[in-house]
Amino acid sequence: MAKINPVSGYETCLERVLISEEQLKSRIAELGAEISRDYAGLCPLLLCILRGGVVFLTDLMRSLTVPHHIDFMAVSSYGVGARVSSGSPRIVLDVNTDIAGRHVLLVEDIVDSGHTLDHVLRLLQTREPASLKVCVLLDKAERRVVDIPIAYRGFVIPDEFVFGYGLDVDEVYRNLPFIGVLKKEYQ
Ligand code: IMP
Ligand code: MG
Repeated sequence: MAKINPVSGYETCLERVLISEEQLKSRIAELGAEISRDYAGLCPLLLCILRGGVVFLTDLMRSLTVPHHIDFMAVSSYGVGARVSSGSPRIVLDVNTDIAGRHVLLVEDIVDSGHTLDHVLRLLQTREPASLKVCVLLDKAERRVVDIPIAYRGFVIPDEFVFGYGLDVDEVYRNLPFIGVLKKEYQ
């Protein structure tokens, strides 16, 4: 496997753009409208999973017309430098808000095996939210090991390692405004 050189530009490891900035914008506007309709009068808590979900959250929340709260939790599921989920997620930072009786919408960058969200959903459910739903930007549907109920989904994508728009390759390139596919030699 070729190594990412973090000081060189993303162009070195980009195979192709999978989802453009314009496509992201218009899909997120659609999701925002749908969520705003569904949560009218409920002041939902958008619970973002760090770090990958943060770019999606900031655009999604600005597309909402309903008042809402935000909070964060961090889950680590990958070994350092690994490109596949370890299957044993760990809560690195728990949510500060008391979610009992709240309408919670989990905001995540991508569902791959499903282990991360399964773990988080089980944990949050024990705290008795009024409702608990999932909003993911990307769904690598063919890689699913654990079934996850997804209420809002941006795009179904093929089984390829992607980066940009919050998703990293070895912690870099999260700032790119598009979703790109990593060249095979880096996967
Ligand atoms: P899962 O537990 O296998 O569903 O993995 C979910 C987590 O793995 C996501 O929250 C991402 O942080 C990470 N992940 C999965 N696929 C990719 C990818 O293609 N690029 C970057 N991160 C990924
Ligand atoms: Mg993530």
